[in-house]
Amino acid sequence: MEKFVINGGTPLFGEVNISGAKNAAVAIIPAAILIEDECIIENVPDIKDVRIILDMLCSMGAKVEKIDANTVKIDATSLDTYIVGKEKASKMRASYYMLGALCSRFKKAVVPPPGGCNFGIRPIDQHIKGFEALNCKTEIKHGNIELDASDIKGGQVYFDVVSVGATINIMLAAVKAPGVTIMENAAKEPHIVDVANFLNSMGANIKGAGTDVIKITGVEKLHGGVYGVIPDQIEAGSYMFAAAATRGDVTIKNVIPKHLDAITSKFVEMGVDVEEGDDYVRVNAKGALNKINVKTLPYPGFPTDLQPPMVALLTTVSGTSIVTESVWDSRFQYVSELEKMGAKITVNGQVAVVEGGKSLTGADVCATDLRAGAGMIIAALSANGKSSICNIHHIDRGYENIEQKLISLGAKIIRTDD
Ligand code: EPZ
Repeated sequence: MEKFVINGGTPLFGEVNISGAKNAAVAIIPAAILIEDECIIENVPDIKDVRIILDMLCSMGAKVEKIDANTVKIDATSLDTYIVGKEKASKMRASYYMLGALCSRFKKAVVPPPGGCNFGIRPIDQHIKGFEALNCKTEIKHGNIELDASDIKGGQVYFDVVSVGATINIMLAAVKAPGVTIMENAAKEPHIVDVANFLNSMGANIKGAGTDVIKITGVEKLHGGVYGVIPDQIEAGSYMFAAAATRGDVTIKNVIPKHLDAITSKFVEMGVDVEEGDDYVRVNAKGALNKINVKTLPYPGFPTDLQPPMVALLTTVSGTSIVTESVWDSRFQYVSELEKMGAKITVNGQVAVVEGGKSLTGADVCATDLRAGAGMIIAALSANGKSSICNIHHIDRGYENIEQKLISLGAKIIRTDD
């Protein structure tokens, strides 16, 4: 089993390039099956979750060709099944996008329950509510979600919960459904806009993505084309936290600074200097920082996926900071790992109270999920001494070349195989 060994206590300096957004790519790739033509997708991150979803398309008959590490050509004309295999679906959360995509393509889908990070119950009732609003029938049979969209037509859905997955899934289903679909209380994350831009560039008619009301007018056919995925907001944020936690000075390049506003504003409150350019942010964290309180929220609020990196940073800040998780039920499992490094954190339900300021010390810890893994790396980079982080397969799901990028910033990190 591979692990990272990190010798911490060294501030990070330099420049780092951000890859394409994982959560956009894992939706855009299934969206490509709506197109019976060739499409080229650029700035695709070379990460495990992307490889899994590409492999899933291949196994269902699509032609997938890697043009280079970050460019992929997909021609789904030859895709010949609406059934997704159990083993493939269970490897990642985004396999649920095959419901919307196959429903659009074949008016039928059989998809096993998705896998992905475990932070409590991850229901899909809002996806089902959306499909039913589009006149689709859904049923759980033999452990699979079966979707019959033979009478699909545009409809109106009000989501009870703001859900990234449900918003994208219903967008995929509605693109070629006759009539008009309106989604209210839709999610507004940058990757929602990116999926809509991808589909529009291939001939769809989606308006309002990025607001909480999205209107989709069904079209008969999509055409092929070339599209570039947006930069990864969460990867960029993770490097911002690594820079701040080590009291370094790092320029994070190839980003959309607007997507990072929630992080930048918290950094300013903490006394971290953030300089914004057209496509970069520079994070310069010298000396003592201020404690803060933060609550995770759907976009444009502070992202839940950066909650573990935020907690790791707050362990380095004197005083009591309070972190409230309002998106997921159970996203503080990793705290016991941070405690092995000497962190003082009390978790009560959705709230973590961080008593920070005493240096962490290196320890043997585990990545309990993808973003918790990023939090562990950030904590280990700031800690005195050597840490080892196990279960890094979680981290490989979502961060491209993470150790090379960190090494280029001066981090002492190696990947070893036990
Ligand atoms: C997406 O998950 C991301 N995954 C997650 O990132 C991210 O944490 C999450 O959005 C929130 O931003 C992908 O994009 C692949 P949701 P998703 O549906 O779509 C409740 C990462 O590390 N809910 O927006 O599964 C749900 O329980 C991953 O990159 C319902 O109640 O999240 C949660 O409390 C981890 N019913 C909230 O909504 C539903 O039908 C948000 O979930 C759907 C969701």
